[in-house]
Amino acid sequence: MTSTTVNRGRSSQLFQEAKKVLVGGVNSPVRAFKAVGGDPVFFKRGEGSHLYDEDGNEYVDYLMSWGPLLFGHSPKEVVAAISAAAKEGTSFGAPTAREAELAKLVQEFLPSCELIRLVNSGVEATTSAIRLARGATGRRKIMKFNGCYHGHSDSLLVKAGSGGLTLGIPDSKGIINELASQTISVEFNDLQELEQAFNTFGTDLAAVIIEPVVGNMGVVVPKLEFLKSLEHLCRKHGTLLIFDEVMTGFRVHPGGAQALYGIKPDLTCFGKVIGGGLPCGAYGGRRDLMELIAPMGPVYQAGTLSGNPVVTAAGMAMLTRLKKNPHEFKKAVDYTEQLAKGVEQIAQEKNYPLTVNRVGTMFTIFHNAGPVNNLKEVMHSDVNKFKAFYHAMLDQGIYFAPSQYEANFTSAVHTEADLQKTLAAVKKAL
Ligand SMILES: Cc1ncc(COP(=O)(O)O)c(C=O)c1O
Repeated sequence: MTSTTVNRGRSSQLFQEAKKVLVGGVNSPVRAFKAVGGDPVFFKRGEGSHLYDEDGNEYVDYLMSWGPLLFGHSPKEVVAAISAAAKEGTSFGAPTAREAELAKLVQEFLPSCELIRLVNSGVEATTSAIRLARGATGRRKIMKFNGCYHGHSDSLLVKAGSGGLTLGIPDSKGIINELASQTISVEFNDLQELEQAFNTFGTDLAAVIIEPVVGNMGVVVPKLEFLKSLEHLCRKHGTLLIFDEVMTGFRVHPGGAQALYGIKPDLTCFGKVIGGGLPCGAYGGRRDLMELIAPMGPVYQAGTLSGNPVVTAAGMAMLTRLKKNPHEFKKAVDYTEQLAKGVEQIAQEKNYPLTVNRVGTMFTIFHNAGPVNNLKEVMHSDVNKFKAFYHAMLDQGIYFAPSQYEANFTSAVHTEADLQKTLAAVKKAL
């Protein structure tokens, strides 16, 4: 149980009502507060770096809708673009000019995407990329890493992170063994295990899919040597390298993790930021591979609302702002660094053992875990301490991701006042 002095009565009431018609009262399990206890907060409004709940409480937001909101809530140009596009029509089911414009913009940031297909979510992107890899190579198996989450598709829910990890169901019921057994999962950052897996399965490995900076077991930073070796092993074995940049795209660097670490994947998956806060995903990569997708080739993938005109307007507004204002991205990164260093300093003063992992605009605070470089080490974190910390922060108006095994996000519009408020709250909470 959690005790609080803050009135969130209406949130609790709404949650009770929601549970009558929605599974668990939510439409995505990670929202249910299962990992931290208590009722989830219901939000009414967001503005800039702040959220306002149904009871009128205000929060500094570090969830940023699980990543998409690089420029905070309701940025003017995104809202205007959505509104203008909606007035012209919400969906045509036929080509529109903005689809190629958005793809071109994505290509400018990530030149490895020679051809692109827009979809509606991250999981559509990763599922399609896996199908393409199998179609292109004629091989069955895929490799992923323990604690990485790539959406909820059957082939990828094996030792998965995010909600699977939080709720203790990293291998979901309902996935047939014949399919799950084709997915090999290896410890992140473990070169020896990686080489062994390639030696055993290399000739039948269609693809390796990786969160190049992991966000879905909390933030875990890759060792450069590990990523470079992965690239090399993929080339050597004719295995396709898929960077799942759904979270890291436009977040760890405007050019994604591939720009940050100097790696060229065969395929890249997008979601979150690319849609400017509306549902959007994409996958792209080597022209010869992407040309295998229908209508050009034999790998089928489609979508009624894919490339939706309102969604592409939001995505264009978001990425155009990023392109024109590189200093804004830097501001968000600087904020993350100041926050992390501030938290570390407070912890040191209080002799409280804590680890802050961060890359770009993503961070996670692990409690009493020591260094955290893979899933095994993530599991060292004291989740009871995390829970207590979580609620202490929430009650002081700081909204973090409600699980130890998730990333938090900053934005270009978090302010010095937000930083000071957060650090003061951390001081009290620890
Ligand atoms: C790295 C990664 N891949 C894929 C997904 C799935 O994206 P979506 O929830 O948009 O389907 C997520 C979602 O959090 C993610 O973090």
